[in-house]
Amino acid sequence: MSHDALMHMARRTLAHTRAGTVPLADGIVKVPAANYVDPARYQAELALIFRRLPLVAAASAELHRPRDYRSIELAGVPVLVVRGDDGEVRAYLNVCSHRGAVVVPEGHGSARRFTCPYHAWTYDAAGCLVGVLDREEFGPLDVASHGLRALPAAERAGLVFVVPDPRSTIDIDAFLSGYDQVLDHLGLGRCWFVGQQAVAGPNWKVAYDGYLDFYHLPVLHKDTFGTELSNQAIYDAWGPHQRVSSPDERLLRFDALPDHDWPLAALTAGVWTVFPQTSIAGFPVKGSDGSATSLYMVSTLFPGADVASSTTQQTFLSTVEPTPALQAAIEAQMRFLLGVVRDEDYATGLRIQRALATGLRRNVLFGRNEAGGQRFHGWVDRLLAAPDGASLAGLFAVPEVAHQP
Ligand code: FES
Ligand SMILES: [Fe+2]
Repeated sequence: MSHDALMHMARRTLAHTRAGTVPLADGIVKVPAANYVDPARYQAELALIFRRLPLVAAASAELHRPRDYRSIELAGVPVLVVRGDDGEVRAYLNVCSHRGAVVVPEGHGSARRFTCPYHAWTYDAAGCLVGVLDREEFGPLDVASHGLRALPAAERAGLVFVVPDPRSTIDIDAFLSGYDQVLDHLGLGRCWFVGQQAVAGPNWKVAYDGYLDFYHLPVLHKDTFGTELSNQAIYDAWGPHQRVSSPDERLLRFDALPDHDWPLAALTAGVWTVFPQTSIAGFPVKGSDGSATSLYMVSTLFPGADVASSTTQQTFLSTVEPTPALQAAIEAQMRFLLGVVRDEDYATGLRIQRALATGLRRNVLFGRNEAGGQRFHGWVDRLLAAPDGASLAGLFAVPEVAHQP
């Protein structure tokens, strides 16, 4: 089913390549500049988007084995993700039931037990409180009801999704709208975790706009990626999640092949975004010893302390286990991508942020060739207009799948 969907998209893109056309949205959309700079709106986005929706908290490759864990702050909420002995990934509020210390510092590791750094209360991989220091002196305590608070979590398509508020009633699979089944063909769950780095950026929507935008590629990135990249984009959407790809001359050589002979790389090309904060892009990398990999960069955006800031974590996954020479080439590619995002995308974004904060520009524009940005801002508006659980569930009740023709 999902392979058929990939094939359908590839043949559609091939037809555009042959005809020299690209699908366009109906019209130009104006987005109020205030949407990027208004602190009240920013607080509403945190509450009604980031605190209610499943967020990508880790790549499965970061916690491959039982007892591997990842500690991360999601929209201000300290979260602990652990793979249990049964192979299942579970998530907890990483806040001690004693006096609220963060139990596990941010980062990765492998552990059977988690001991709070403040007074050494200890939890197991199931989040149960299994140790209380000087328990007799502390006094009577119902240990069973003082474990780490569980958070909704699910592992799909090689990504770990966590809802950072246990009171949210959103269904993770309804939210994904079938996107995970298509995304699964990237094989992220079978990758090796090979690196991670962070970069500071502007308002999360200024940053996210860039990941949906091919229009800027040969312009802003002329000195790094060069001017050869297509600036034309074709958008496919599953609910708020979008894949961006381009007409591509290289597809013409597969034209006569039957569907099952098309290489998977041709079917999964492009940038895959997961609303509201993740983008996945692949890059071929070769080592000096002749080894080669597809390197995936999973960019995960986190809103910052105020409306004008965000942090993006770049997680790198390799489709093969790297040799030392390949790892060196991967690290060179990581430095290159950090430079591109920091010095080109986010340097521009931070400047946009300050320019829009002047209040002197009423709107920004998304053209007919920028349907992805149009859809993204439409979904932000829809979520802000759905303040309760019932209206939120209603947005995902019927999976909304939309392929550009
Ligand atoms: S706050 Fe964790 S043991 Fe006291
Ligand atoms: Fe860019």
